[in-house]
Amino acid sequence: MLVNARDMLLKARDGRYAVAQININNLEWTKAVLQTAEELKNPVILGVSEGAGKYMAGFGTVTAMVREMDKFLGITVPVALHLDHGTYEGCLACVEAGFTSIMFDGSHFPIDENMQKTTELVKLAHDRGMSIEAEVGAIGGEEDGVIGGGEVADPQECKAIADLGIDFLAAGIGNIHGVYPENWKGLDFDALDRIHQATGGIPLVLHGGTGIPEDMIKKAISLGVSKINVNTECQLSFAAGVRKYIEEGKDLSGKGFDPRKLLEPGVNAIKDTCKEKFGIFGSIGNA
Ligand code: 13P
Repeated sequence: MLVNARDMLLKARDGRYAVAQININNLEWTKAVLQTAEELKNPVILGVSEGAGKYMAGFGTVTAMVREMDKFLGITVPVALHLDHGTYEGCLACVEAGFTSIMFDGSHFPIDENMQKTTELVKLAHDRGMSIEAEVGAIGGEEDGVIGGGEVADPQECKAIADLGIDFLAAGIGNIHGVYPENWKGLDFDALDRIHQATGGIPLVLHGGTGIPEDMIKKAISLGVSKINVNTECQLSFAAGVRKYIEEGKDLSGKGFDPRKLLEPGVNAIKDTCKEKFGIFGSIGNA
C-alpha cells in the first residue's frame, strides 16, 4: 500500500523503533524488499537516489514499477517511495513522477538558502500529500556521486529547518555513507541529544545505516531516530550471493545461466539483510 512516510514515522517515534529506508537499484531489489516487508508485516521506505533513478530509466519508470508491483504482489503494509538526497530539480521531478515522499538535501548550501529552498518544497510536497525530509550538517563519504564532508549539525540550524514544517530531519552526527573506516569515532550522541532537545520531537533520520553496531542503533532510536537508511549493506550481500553462485560454477550447469536463477542468491541475500535490519530496528509487526 503506497503511502507517504509521515504517519509511519510518527508511529515509529511513539513506539520507539525505527523504520528502514532500503535503497533500491532495480526490479529484483524492489521485489525483494517488498516481499520481505509484507512477510514480516513491516512498514518500509523504498529509497531512490538520483543516480539509481537515472539507472532505472527515470523516476516515472520507477513510480510505475513500484505502483504496479505493489498491486501485483498484493502488498498490504505501508510502503513509501522516497527520493534520497534530492537536488531541488530532482525533487520537482519526483513530485511530477508521483513519488509519495522526497528528501531535499540542501546541506551544502548556506543555511539561509537551504531554508528558502526547503520552504518552497515543503509547500509543493504537502499540497500533493507527500512527505518531505530535509538535511542539516552533512553525511560523510560518497553515495552515487553525492559527497559529504561529515560536518556535525548545529542544533539551532536543525531547529530552524524543522520549524519550516518538514516531516523528518536528517542531521549529520558523524555518520558516513558506505563502509565505516577502521578509525571511525562512532556516532556523536551528545550532538544527537542536543538536536533531539532542540527540534521538539520531529522524527530524526540516521543515514549511513550500513555497519552501525546494534548498541549504537538502539541508543540512536532512544534519542529520537525514527528512520534509518541502508544501501551499501544490501549491495554487498547481493554481490556476495551472486559471486558464490558463479564461483561454484552453477551458472555453467543446466540452465543456471538463466538470469532468474543467476540473480536468485543475490535476491535471497537482500531479503536476509532486510530481515536482520528490520529486527534490529524493532519495526517487525508494526505495519
Ligand atoms: P549506507 O550506504 O551507508 O547504508 O547509507 C545509506 C544512506 O544513508 C542512504 O541515504
